[in-house]
Amino acid sequence: MPAFKPRRRSRFQSLCYFVFGLGFVLFVYYYALHEPRSSPDILAKEAASNSTLGFQKILVLSKSPSWRTRGLKAASAYTGLDIEIPVQSLPTDEFIQLWRKLGDPNGKHPGLGQAYNWIAHLDLVKYAIALDLETVLILEDDVDWDVTIKQQIQLISSAVREFTFVDDEDETPYGKSWDILWIGHSGDPLKNETRRVEFKDPSVPSKDQYTGWTKPYYNLNPGSRYVQRAVNPVGTIGYAMTKRGMKKVALWAGKGENEAYDIRLLEGCRSKDLSCIVVNPQLMHHYVPPMDFGHISEVAGVNGAGNKAEEEDFEKLMGSTPNIVQSTRCRVLFGSTCLRK
Ligand SMILES: *[C@@H]1O[C@H](CO)[C@@H](O)[C@H](O)[C@H]1NC(C)=O
Ligand SMILES: *[C@@H]1O[C@H](CO)[C@@H](O)[C@H](O)[C@H]1NC(C)=O
Repeated sequence: MPAFKPRRRSRFQSLCYFVFGLGFVLFVYYYALHEPRSSPDILAKEAASNSTLGFQKILVLSKSPSWRTRGLKAASAYTGLDIEIPVQSLPTDEFIQLWRKLGDPNGKHPGLGQAYNWIAHLDLVKYAIALDLETVLILEDDVDWDVTIKQQIQLISSAVREFTFVDDEDETPYGKSWDILWIGHSGDPLKNETRRVEFKDPSVPSKDQYTGWTKPYYNLNPGSRYVQRAVNPVGTIGYAMTKRGMKKVALWAGKGENEAYDIRLLEGCRSKDLSCIVVNPQLMHHYVPPMDFGHISEVAGVNGAGNKAEEEDFEKLMGSTPNIVQSTRCRVLFGSTCLRK
């Protein structure tokens, strides 16, 4: 009998070793070798941080090569973005004059610069339609963004998917239930009167750092960014459209009838003719050359303001970008930050 005991114990031990061993193999297989299928949310987030920020293409509105496009290309290379700057044709004077008169004679009408800008935007929207894109992101050529744009855009992807109640099976970065996703603008009054999704984002400017015409309306929680129904977004600095959105915008903004393209779109967002979502604070804003040059925008330039003689100096002297804490242009061109004070 005493000789029996150790044998039974050792059989029991072998069994234990076997069970542990099997468990270990299964554990390694499951957690190291076997790749579990990712959830649609994770796949969507991964897609959102690709070189076109989860849109099918990034198209840039640009009149001609300048400090604007050279800085833009440098910034895109730095953050790993693929942009396309299509060559655009100029409208005739006759067409511009007609365009400016469209709509109610007593209503609002675009200035010369606004009319050129408007038609150029429309041409780009039609180009995107002709390419049959599912989604497109249109940028103006003096746009700037944070060096963490790819992390930021993943948060936008999740928030837009939540905001628009995407299907559980949908793996696209932003779903399809919207017309315009306004990520770059000069402000939307940041009011909390429309439904919104709030999320933490370490790259958000604080209330003290935030500047612009919407500063008086600033009522955001510190460290939070929001995706919400657009109330009053101004400035088509960076806006995405779905295929449905492009077609609606071409018709809605193809009528003229307001002071500028962005204001015409804003009117459509407000009247709910267009389904618009805005990111607040904005992810993209205009980079502006040093103030002492009395820099003027492309639109104001056509309207007769400003002087182009000093434009070549713009590339040597650092300007600023509002509300972008770590400007990509300033990082790559000047090794610095340049948040507008
Ligand atoms: C980025 O992702 C979007 C959405 O999945 C896709 O349409 C686009 O082609 C991708 N971009 C690149 C460069 O692969
Ligand atoms: C909006 O924000 C203000 C100020 O923070 C607050 O007093 C108000 O209750 C909020 N309204 C809604 C609808 O959440």
